[in-house]
Amino acid sequence: MANDILIAPSLLAADFANLGADAAAVADAGADWLHLDVMDGRFVPNITFGPMVVKALRKHSDKPFDAHLMIEPVDMFAPEFIQAGADWVTIHPESGAHAHRSIGHIKSLGKKAGIALNPGTPVEAIDNVMDMVDLVLVMTVNPGFGGQSFIQSQVAKIAAVHERIKGSGRDVRLEVDGGVTPATAGAVAAAGADVLVAGTAVFKDGRDGLARNIQAIRDAAEAGRADAAA
Ligand code: DX5
Ligand code: ZN
Repeated sequence: MANDILIAPSLLAADFANLGADAAAVADAGADWLHLDVMDGRFVPNITFGPMVVKALRKHSDKPFDAHLMIEPVDMFAPEFIQAGADWVTIHPESGAHAHRSIGHIKSLGKKAGIALNPGTPVEAIDNVMDMVDLVLVMTVNPGFGGQSFIQSQVAKIAAVHERIKGSGRDVRLEVDGGVTPATAGAVAAAGADVLVAGTAVFKDGRDGLARNIQAIRDAAEAGRADAAA
């Protein structure tokens, strides 16, 4: 039985001057998880927020916090994000020399661990951590900014990751991040994705559009999955 499709709005596209209220609003509008894009100006060419902001957000929503760490080094900060309230912590293998150790550390702190694949990173990067991870994140843009165009060539990678997850026999979430809209959600869900991150497509119409935009992505994903199964 396939996992339910989850929608994880990225607060990167929220109003940073009203982050708590936007987090609460998007949770009320039907978000399953809240995706938190942590950027350091080094691993990626943009800077967002750190553990103090994650901790402050925790008061505004009890949805699972999905921390996407685009920082290097990652090991010294991952525990701080966990302490701040992250439930899922995803790292990029390029952000430290020892991805296996980083993932093991997150697991040892009792949280779900994910590994992220940049568009240029081959799928094989997950092979030696498949027995440990709870999530694989396929990036469908180069990380750093919201509002970029979906990179179509990554759909084949999503399918390849899906095959590996099935082969592992483990319960591993397959997340997709970047350029996800109602127009692209069907293809990623058909390829096997079950957690869809979306920033711009969720927040683009302000508070009033949140529920409608989340539902449109969910409907497109469910239709894509159903078509693929037919
Ligand atoms: C990109 C981030 C994404 C980003 C997605 O580095 O990891 O989560 O916010 O934004 P959209 O949905 O606008 O492509
Ligand atoms: Zn992200």
